[in-house]
Amino acid sequence: MHDDIEKVLIDEEVIQKRLDLLAEKVTEEFRGESIVVVALLKGAILFMADLLRRVPLAMEIECLNVASYHGGTESSGEVSFLDRKLPDVSGKSVLLLDDILDTGRTLDAVMRKLKDQGAEEIKTCVLLTKDIERDITLEADFSGFTIGDEFVVGYGLDYQGKYRNLPYVGILKNSAI
Ligand code: IMP
Ligand code: MG
Repeated sequence: MHDDIEKVLIDEEVIQKRLDLLAEKVTEEFRGESIVVVALLKGAILFMADLLRRVPLAMEIECLNVASYHGGTESSGEVSFLDRKLPDVSGKSVLLLDDILDTGRTLDAVMRKLKDQGAEEIKTCVLLTKDIERDITLEADFSGFTIGDEFVVGYGLDYQGKYRNLPYVGILKNSAI
């Protein structure tokens, strides 16, 4: 698996250090509130586990299974909700976690859905933000790192379902695509 990586963009230690700070900010933001964390599957799984163990607040953890990529290296633009039942967020403060903010369509669609479900307040937190022009004006409330317009894998991010378990974020070799 490591052999398929051309370049490590953000190494494990740097990610973990950054999470300390991100967790502090999240903790400050929601102090005294009881929150529901909604993590988007499957990309946010590593991020969720490492971030939330650093946030000493009362919380419920929910996962939402959405698909937006459909296998390639370009965002498809379509967001599908794969769960039969959505988490109960009515009247609650929500922390929405995802791996990456790319076109913003995923977070936008999920935020709308959660608002429809009666969420009182929604803050978004992503590991990565792509530094690109977006049709959708959306900025995450909390973001770990800003990267360029390149396709990355690892630390939750996949290419055709693989590489999510890499402990770092990297760029694939052309031969692996
Ligand atoms: P958006 O809806 O375009 O913001 O895309 C968000 C989703 O697309 C993320 O949750 C990822 O699953 C996927 N995605 C976007 N960029 C990348 C990437 O560089 N590598 C892997 N997945 C990506
Ligand atoms: Mg994904």
